[in-house]
Amino acid sequence: MTTPIIRARHVAIIMDGNGRWAKKRHLPRVVGHQRGVEAVRKLVRSLKDSDLECLTLYAFSSENWRRPEDEVDDLMDLMRKFIRSDLEEFVENGVRLRIVGDYQALAPDIVDLLENALDRTSQGTRTVAVALNYGGQQEIARAARLAAEAGPVTAEAIESHLFTADLPPLDLLIRTSGEVRLSNFLLWQAAYAEMLFLDVLWPDFTPAHLADALDQFAVRERRYGGR
Ligand code: IPE
Ligand code: IPE
Ligand code: MG
Repeated sequence: MTTPIIRARHVAIIMDGNGRWAKKRHLPRVVGHQRGVEAVRKLVRSLKDSDLECLTLYAFSSENWRRPEDEVDDLMDLMRKFIRSDLEEFVENGVRLRIVGDYQALAPDIVDLLENALDRTSQGTRTVAVALNYGGQQEIARAARLAAEAGPVTAEAIESHLFTADLPPLDLLIRTSGEVRLSNFLLWQAAYAEMLFLDVLWPDFTPAHLADALDQFAVRERRYGGR
């Protein structure tokens, strides 16, 4: 029997390995993060030639605040620069930006930039969701709290209050850098997602890696507990 080909609608990526990429080259960590942004830019550009509906990118976790202050500052500065430089291209390419995570807790000027970007891109037809100040456990706790305010706390009720409630179900979760863990990313959504752990450092990740991952996904057999 031939395995049916299935098309992924929603892929999420844990973009890991910027620090190691820089270290290998004896460069400051910030250069790794800069090259990481370049990889994001190329990937988002490549979406216009793909039929993927949604790409969710883990950019900053709730736990990344534990890093040294100057690294956090560098990451926030890169965020500001990226939104400023790429927003119009997002609009032109029909990209709808979404934020998952507690972004309101970021610096006020970043919140303003993000809200303007959400507004400007609201008519886009393919979604790029960026996980910012995001933690999966925090997301589930928040959703459970909201569900409890509205009625019985069922799985469906929790799901309806996740940041991803209106996005397609997660099909494939990719982590770069060789680490094999979720690091508090999309814990609920990963329940039946396929997983792919790649030995590629994030700055080296190209649209060809994504295309390859989608090809691998297409022939996986998903069971959802049935048979
Ligand atoms: C991922 O790269 C970027 C963020 C977490 C913001 P890292 O900075 O975690 O790189 P490694 O894991 O130290 O190589
Ligand atoms: C996960 O990577 C967070 C992001 C990619 C934004 P980390 O580098 O923070 O995860 P750990 O510390 O290796 O688990
Ligand atoms: Mg890391």
